Amino acid sequence: MFENIPQLILDRMQALELRDSQARLDGTPRFERLRQIPPETGKFIALMAAVAPAGRYIEIGTSAGYSTLWLALACRLLGRKITSFELLTEKATLARETFKVTKLEDVVEFIHGDALVSLAAINDISFCFLDAEKDIYEHCYEALIPKMVSGGLLMADNAINHEAALRPMLKRALSDPRVDALIVPIGKGELLCRKQ
Ligand SMILES: C[S@@+](CC[C@H](N)C(=O)[O-])C[C@H]1O[C@@H](n2cnc3c(N)ncnc32)[C@H](O)[C@@H]1O
Repeated sequence: MFENIPQLILDRMQALELRDSQARLDGTPRFERLRQIPPETGKFIALMAAVAPAGRYIEIGTSAGYSTLWLALACRLLGRKITSFELLTEKATLARETFKVTKLEDVVEFIHGDALVSLAAINDISFCFLDAEKDIYEHCYEALIPKMVSGGLLMADNAINHEAALRPMLKRALSDPRVDALIVPIGKGELLCRKQ
């Protein structure tokens, strides 16, 4: 999966990494930055997506599509698709460009809109990567878990660097009998849950 990443995808990953790291240095306001996962987290979520059971793959918080590119590697391998949601128009424009230039429009269904609204109509989720504003994590968790297939994986970013803000949701997941869960110390910390 990582040995033969198409050049178009590598080029776009590199361009987005550069753009995000420059914005972190030049004082670009938080909500304008891409706020992407680091590459090691990208590899980790791709590996987890590659072993998820059959079902719907979703991502909440596309930004410009960097994490989606990693997840798309797993989807290509398995012949599956992923649906990714982004709320902000400027990020949505960048995300559409990402999936166009990387020729991934047949793998990624991109939805410009509030994931919380669309979630109501989605069932049989086998993989979800949650990487949005921290105040919606708990709501997303409660909405997602009942809709997940047995063996389905829910991953949530920022479990360590935003531990305080996410504490209620993390406590709930780590003691929830419906899932096996742990926090993996990679990147900003990944909550990994497997639905029983
Ligand atoms: C941390 S960034 C995502 C970074 C991206 N996952 C990556 O690593 O490349 C969080 C994104 O979630 C989006 N977002 C926040 N709430 C959302 C919602 N309810 N539905 C869809 N997107 C949302 C924000 O606009 C922002 O672009």
